[in-house]
Amino acid sequence: MRKTGNAVTLIPGDGIGLEISDAVVKILEAAGFRPEWEIALAGESAIRDKGVPLPADVIESIERTRVGLKGPLKTPIATGHKSVNVSLRQHFNLYAAYRPVQSLEGIDTKWKGIDLVVIRENTEGLYSGIEHEVIPGVVESLKVITRSASERIAAFAFDYARRTGRRKITIVHKANIMKLSDGLFLECSRKVAARYPEIEVNDSIVDNTCMQLVMKPEQFDILLLENLYGDIVSDLAAGLVGGLGLVPGVNYGDDCALFEAVHGTAPDIAGKGLANPIALLRSAVLMLEYLEFGEIAVRVDKAMRKVVRERKTLTPDIGGNATTDEMCKAIIGSLE
Ligand code: NAI
Repeated sequence: MRKTGNAVTLIPGDGIGLEISDAVVKILEAAGFRPEWEIALAGESAIRDKGVPLPADVIESIERTRVGLKGPLKTPIATGHKSVNVSLRQHFNLYAAYRPVQSLEGIDTKWKGIDLVVIRENTEGLYSGIEHEVIPGVVESLKVITRSASERIAAFAFDYARRTGRRKITIVHKANIMKLSDGLFLECSRKVAARYPEIEVNDSIVDNTCMQLVMKPEQFDILLLENLYGDIVSDLAAGLVGGLGLVPGVNYGDDCALFEAVHGTAPDIAGKGLANPIALLRSAVLMLEYLEFGEIAVRVDKAMRKVVRERKTLTPDIGGNATTDEMCKAIIGSLE
């Protein structure tokens, strides 16, 4: 079942999340998208407010709205609570992480004309969260790969390719070493691929894929990966087009979707008003398309592209000296 109501869950996030989500809401509202925002705190902000990183009201809100826009959330390293991002993806069965990675005119990078899509299995693999200490000094993290989840993400990728006229899918794995787990992922992907004869398919070992991506990215179209590889490769791909501040991301389930920037809370610049809102804004544009506000999506996207192309009001991460607020105002001023 697809969303029908007028409410959207907004999780502003931690660190720069507050600054960028404020900017994005202002831009969306100026463009005419004024849903009922259900504001839900998660992560560090929720721990401060309610004592837990993922309060029940966040889950309840997404259960109601079936769609969320989310800023980055702080996850403690090597200690503390489980990642809220992982918990949300698992709870709502948001099994497909979708990251389109495209060059933007006005952003000076080594590569021009990049147009890649990274599709990542989002619910299992090494992120299943099954870890234990066997004896002091020896720990195990279990990598879970199932036929059902592998076939489901492959079908998502091939359906997407067929729907959008994409030409090729590269299945990325390490089945030379992890013969059972990655072998199963590869086998399931190939089995699904057979139903889509018009789409070219190949496979590539993940380490070689990383090298190929930085040397000859034009050979790739869609990359299909399991969880950990997808996480790493999607950031590498973001680097090809100018960095994490520019690339959108979506976590799709069958009847629910969470739209989020791919970057983190950027503690080095949080609170300084220097964060780039474009990644979250582009995620919001994908949300507008999903909610069938296509005309507003096009207007917001065009305004953002104009500001980037003109290079007068850019945040420092992409070579300017504007603040988040100034960039937000420039985008609003460019709305046609
Ligand atoms: P990060 O993405 O927060 O920062 C990496 C670098 O990119 C920093 O130099 C930062 O200033 C810059 N950067 C990131 N987004 C930017 C933006 N919008 N505008 C300008 N510059 C930007 O990665 P890091 O430092 O590894 O992680 C910090 C925290 O974020 C950790 O707690 C981590 O768990 C969390 N995180 C959360 C994610 C999420 O909620 N989806 C994703 C990645 C990390």
